[in-house]
Amino acid sequence: MHLTDEEKRILDGAFGEPQRIALNVLSKLGEAYGADRMIEIASAHIVACSYQIAGEAGIEIYSKLVEQGARVKVRTTSDPGSIDFARWRAFRTPTEYAERQIKIAELLGKLGVIPTWTCTPYTTFNVPKFGEHLGWSESSAVVFANSVIGARTNRLAAYIDVCAALVGKVPRFGLHLPERRRGEVLFELAPDLADDFEDHFFPVLGYLVGQTVGDRIPVISGIGRATFDQLKAFGAASAASGSVALYHIVGITPEARTLEEAFGGRAPAEHIAVGRAEIDRTLEQMSTGKADAVDVIGLGCPHASIDQLRRYAALLEGKRVHSGTELWICANTVVEEMARKMGYVDTIEAAGAKLLVGTCHNDCPLGAWNFRRLATDSGKFAYYTPTTVGTECIFTSTEACIEAALTGRVARP
Ligand code: F3S
Repeated sequence: MHLTDEEKRILDGAFGEPQRIALNVLSKLGEAYGADRMIEIASAHIVACSYQIAGEAGIEIYSKLVEQGARVKVRTTSDPGSIDFARWRAFRTPTEYAERQIKIAELLGKLGVIPTWTCTPYTTFNVPKFGEHLGWSESSAVVFANSVIGARTNRLAAYIDVCAALVGKVPRFGLHLPERRRGEVLFELAPDLADDFEDHFFPVLGYLVGQTVGDRIPVISGIGRATFDQLKAFGAASAASGSVALYHIVGITPEARTLEEAFGGRAPAEHIAVGRAEIDRTLEQMSTGKADAVDVIGLGCPHASIDQLRRYAALLEGKRVHSGTELWICANTVVEEMARKMGYVDTIEAAGAKLLVGTCHNDCPLGAWNFRRLATDSGKFAYYTPTTVGTECIFTSTEACIEAALTGRVARP
């Protein structure tokens, strides 16, 4: 792999130990994947910032970096932590656990990381431009940045993202190369399904697509329109059930204005027809829960947008969450603050629902709650909940989730 004179000097230690180690890791990664050189990135987004992921090893690594005077070189934001920093006691987080997360936050602050604590950094202070190269981790953020914005990032692993932030570069391979961004598998929606494509079908289709393609690049045709939130939900599900880091939806996402553009002029390697039967079969798979009684509802995965908070507030207005049922809505502080100013948070809280800010059901310790069954409108939550939250899960529409919160029973779609 070609290294510039400056990069060689970094590897010789001329810019300090943190940069030397970081570039060494990145250049080894590049060699393993056949990169020709390093490229500059506009920003980084890091996942090894929750105590759940970073643990004591993370605290040790960040303490060492701080001691050595390390600073991130590009705009760098943090993924969700393992606590709601303002309300962790109300969410029954053990004190010792919260203190370790607060320690990580202090260390990351000294490194210059912007404390966004969100999986939707593109709704805060890290908004990429089309064609920009990034060094991001967090599967749902990576797939959004690549697919919806048209920025370029591989799906970095924990700490590789920190290396990218410290050097401001990543090795040039994979999704940084235009020829590696072409579609590979075509999913064609049956006309009757396309004509009546409901809101909650987006995460279901994402789940189906992820399961089918693994890490190949899917192209979806037949969807006439999609909102920001539907694209966010689709991508997060596909990145959870599979390893999708880039998708194209013909006529909607920026690198797929036409079917031909999505495939770069090549023929699809595989062609899959999707009808109502495939959607129904996937819907079945997404729910492990056998009974209808639920004790916790999870909305806002990925973190809710302002439109979603407005929608939840409208559905909850003047109503009351069922006793014995918890409705938690995950969001970031920027969106929360805006929603507070707009009165949505008052409405949500008056109904007895809670905003879980800067973290989510999958990232924070829930042992003290003894939840048994979670209902969600998120394909990513549906995929991870049985293992991370340790409860049964029922996937359904947003409206049915809110209804479940009000009645304690969930209607399956
Ligand atoms: Fe975000 Fe947690 Fe979902 S990190 S994507 S809300 S699992």
